Amino acid sequence: MRKRIVAGNWKMNMNHAEGAVLAGALAGGIAGKPVSCEIVIFPPFTTIPAVAGALEGSTIAVGGQDLFYEDAGAFTGEISGGMLRGLGCSHVLVGHSERRHIIGEGGVILARKMRAALRDGLIPVFCVGELLDEREGGRAADVVAVQMRECLTGTSDEEIARTVIAYEPVWAIGTGKTATQQDASEMHAVIREILQHLFNKEVAEHTPVLYGGSVNPGNAAELMSAPGVDGVLVGGASLKAPSFLDIIFAS
Ligand code: PGA
Repeated sequence: MRKRIVAGNWKMNMNHAEGAVLAGALAGGIAGKPVSCEIVIFPPFTTIPAVAGALEGSTIAVGGQDLFYEDAGAFTGEISGGMLRGLGCSHVLVGHSERRHIIGEGGVILARKMRAALRDGLIPVFCVGELLDEREGGRAADVVAVQMRECLTGTSDEEIARTVIAYEPVWAIGTGKTATQQDASEMHAVIREILQHLFNKEVAEHTPVLYGGSVNPGNAAELMSAPGVDGVLVGGASLKAPSFLDIIFAS
């Protein structure tokens, strides 16, 4: 059985004060209730300490939205995996489409970031996904295969065992357009084939693959019941406690 994960990516929203309130509402919202998934939230760096404080005693995990690939030194503006670990983070996003397509990070940098996340003992949530024209051109599977090959090649058995993949078609992120259950299942099956090719059948069967892109309380249950979908990575709908809690309880 693969673990089910519901993750919330706050992106560049929620200052430390707002983040503490939201995290407190999430912790309160699940307290004493049966929850069938792991929950992880990804606040902005400066909000992480306040969120970690608000989540003390809760099972909700915290992660960074990015990390740099060196441990320390003259890298103005960057944050290392060790710094994230020091704040209590267990997870980190690597290769989110906004980092790929707005900030311009490519495979070489992202491969280094994956190595750093794994070296620093974090659980990387490695994001892959195609642009609209790539999907329309029938290239979605090839694009995702390249993204995975670039960044996962050379990963050890122990490291891949703690890696999570998030399939986020770029055309579905923040657009209100969601992949259908069938689109999601097809691509998740492709991702497992690639994992089998890069590693082996066991890795393909055990690695959690999340879906992301305009997930909301209205579509979460359907998406999470799609074959091969092990959970969701939620942006916009993770910024309000009621909608994120609805998604958690839909898992
Ligand atoms: P969205 O973002 O849910 O707002 O589409 C998802 C993501 O970018 O992880």
